[in-house]
Amino acid sequence: MSDYKVKFAGISMAVPEKVLTNADLEKIVDTSDEWIRTRTGMVERRISDKETPSSELAFRAVEKIFKKGKIKPKDIELIIVATVTPDYVFPSTACILQKKMGIHPIPAFDISAGCSGFIYGVTIAKQFIENGIYKTALVVGVEELTKITNWTDRGTCVLFGDGAGAAVLTRANKGEISEVIDTYISSEGKYGDLLNMPAGGSKMPASQETVKKNLHTVFMNGNKIFKIAVKSMGDAATIILERNGLSGNDLNWLITHQANLRIIDATARRLKLSPQKVIVNIEKYGNTSAASIPIAFAEAVEDGRIRRGDLVLLDAFGAGLTWGSVLLRY
Ligand code: UT7
Repeated sequence: MSDYKVKFAGISMAVPEKVLTNADLEKIVDTSDEWIRTRTGMVERRISDKETPSSELAFRAVEKIFKKGKIKPKDIELIIVATVTPDYVFPSTACILQKKMGIHPIPAFDISAGCSGFIYGVTIAKQFIENGIYKTALVVGVEELTKITNWTDRGTCVLFGDGAGAAVLTRANKGEISEVIDTYISSEGKYGDLLNMPAGGSKMPASQETVKKNLHTVFMNGNKIFKIAVKSMGDAATIILERNGLSGNDLNWLITHQANLRIIDATARRLKLSPQKVIVNIEKYGNTSAASIPIAFAEAVEDGRIRRGDLVLLDAFGAGLTWGSVLLRY
């Protein structure tokens, strides 16, 4: 039994203004609007400019939470940023964000769990709050995958978009309905080569050759990943529901990582959920990796679909390979 309960106190999102449509992509690679729509569900995505690194997008999302007035920067005691497109290899984007926020020394660190990063971040923050070490944590999922995209590879360049989502988790008062009920995370490193950026790390440092061969960009075996994604997202959702004595029927909302509409539909079908209960925005933003769940969550709270007390399941899958789920009452 944990000492304290944890809840989502605030959530917000930010995306760059510039839109890249399927029609724009038709001019860059041999693809079609029809193929992208039917194979992925994507119609357009946002693309960041050179002057806006991930930390800046993250900061824009975070500022929106503080503008609402209930939570102040000085309340934050821990910052976790989930990203595979940090400003630098080091220092962490979380530390850069802390500087932008202008707050006193607190722990701030990045985590690398691909598109499951937000789920991993919430899981870590929950532990710190439950055991009483901190009362309030900021968890951000931010990604600028278009900065590591191979624009000659039609198998990947049509998929990704940029964006950020930020959530403040706090200690819940006794008797409050809002609560992060449970989290589940897992990974399988043997599948790591199916989705990675080959160069730029200690295994293959940057060189003229790695640049020439386009190795500082995303490599993905989409077809193999697709099958593993459908199974592991379905498993992550089923495991967390079953161990809490619940079924898909009990859920008000499912928010999955927005990688492919066919994967989202397959997960919803496994839970026997009607499409009306599934939050989808892949048509607007494409795959924003660690940012996709908090962006979808923030939009649904903002437009009034998700209300306080609703039972929500978050479910993700990504590089690592990693996967996981969060069950919460908003
Ligand atoms: O977010 C992290 C995890 N990532 C994912 O979960 C992604 C999972 N995978 C997917 O979403 C899908 O596998 C993709 C959308 C990436 C690809 O869809 P697919 O149905 O698996 O297509 P495929 O890779 O099997 O390719 C089918 C055909 C191929 O042509 P041939 O060999 O059959 O002639 C590809 O060359 O589609 C072709 N193709 C394209 N055609 C037009 C691949 N990309 C494109 C494209 N436009 N952009």
